[in-house]
Amino acid sequence: MIKINSLELDDVKRIRAVKIEPTANGLTVIGGRNNQGKTSVLDAIAWALGGDKFRPSGATREGSAVPPHLKVKLSNGITVERSGKNSDLKVIDETGKRGGQQLLNAFISTFALDLPRFMESTSKEKANVLLQIIGVGDKLFELDKQESTLYNRRLEIGRIAEQKAKFAAELPEYEGIPKEPVSASELIHQQQEILARNGENQRKRERAAQLRNECAIIDSRIAALRSQLAELESKRLEISEDMRIAELSVADLHDESTEALENNIRDIENLNIKIRSNLDKEKAEMDAKQFKDEYDTLTAQISNIRNDRRKLLDSAALPLPGLSVENGELTYNGAKWDCMSGSEQLRVAAAIVRKLNPECGFVLMDKLEQMDIETLDEFGKWLEAEDLQAIATRVSTGGECSIIIEDGYVKGVIPTATEENKMWKAGTF
Ligand SMILES: Nc1ncnc2c1ncn2[C@@H]1O[C@H](COP(=O)(O)OP(=O)(O)OP(=O)(O)O)[C@@H](O)[C@H]1O
Ligand SMILES: [Mg+2]
Repeated sequence: MIKINSLELDDVKRIRAVKIEPTANGLTVIGGRNNQGKTSVLDAIAWALGGDKFRPSGATREGSAVPPHLKVKLSNGITVERSGKNSDLKVIDETGKRGGQQLLNAFISTFALDLPRFMESTSKEKANVLLQIIGVGDKLFELDKQESTLYNRRLEIGRIAEQKAKFAAELPEYEGIPKEPVSASELIHQQQEILARNGENQRKRERAAQLRNECAIIDSRIAALRSQLAELESKRLEISEDMRIAELSVADLHDESTEALENNIRDIENLNIKIRSNLDKEKAEMDAKQFKDEYDTLTAQISNIRNDRRKLLDSAALPLPGLSVENGELTYNGAKWDCMSGSEQLRVAAAIVRKLNPECGFVLMDKLEQMDIETLDEFGKWLEAEDLQAIATRVSTGGECSIIIEDGYVKGVIPTATEENKMWKAGTF
């Protein structure tokens, strides 16, 4: 893992002459008051190691007669130097072999040189960087997609289930009514049978009456036609026997009432309306229940997916305990980026960037005044445990600072190169 062993910076941005040997493991705090050149140190390191895209716009210190000179020695034996009018890059490995920017790019992470670039990326981009590191991005994406599909389906089903239940509740319900619609033709058939039987009775009655009538006529004729008495008496005998039988059968006859059926026929339409309404209600209730059941199934599926998702993240090797990805956004102890404190943001960024390129053992951090002394101390210990070197700036001149920058110099260090001899070196004299 590559660390920065030493830095020599001259005449770059606000820096006049600065030499630093950062601690290999943990925090090197560059302190000082505002505008003294602290951030210029970080900018110079980024330019030296990151290439031309990190070149500061005003690279040469105003008032300097010589071009900037940067020299960075790395723990893998590589020395990086920029010097001369064109600030040419010179990369030399421990065997003395020359290399170029590409050699540096293999083990230096852009984010380590430019932490703000990570910190200012969107929540989604941060989450993607984390997922890339822990290698569960594809699976998590698949789970999130499934969850969102099920969630939307459930939302839709829930809405329908609610509508169906409401519809079912609004339908009227009638008590004491047959389950199936009643058929009118069956009742009409019964009525016709009764009417037919009654008609038969009527015929019998009429026949009896007719016979009675004939008897009467004959009786009167007997009286009138005494002469025909014998003949008529025999006739009378014959008829009176028939009459007796007829009278007997008539005596037992009784007519059935069709009133109830008539009422039923009258009521049947009303009844059927109610029956159909009850059937509709039953169907609507079943419908509503079916959608409710589907809703519950979807809820169970969503909860399974969320479990899988949690297990997936739990099983992944996270760069920092408490980091996670929720709805595609990076979270730390449940808080999204904009809800984290400044110091938490720095720690999360350092942890992620550290894992992004495991070869790169250092990170540059500006504006560490966001951390109070206690947090700073704790952060330093965490860096040490992670075997990570952090070169940081802090607006402070307190004891927590490793060095103090004042007017472009390291305070307390007597500058070795004066303006004059630098000019002489550059051949201006
Ligand atoms: N090429 C340059 N030559 C001289 N001065 C410069 C040059 N570029 C920037 N400056 C000045 O350097 C100062 C900023 O330097 P730098 O950012 O390193 O300070 P700092 O110590 O980090 O300050 P702060 O605590 O405010 O962050 C500004 O006053 C700016 O005008
Ligand atoms: Mg600064």
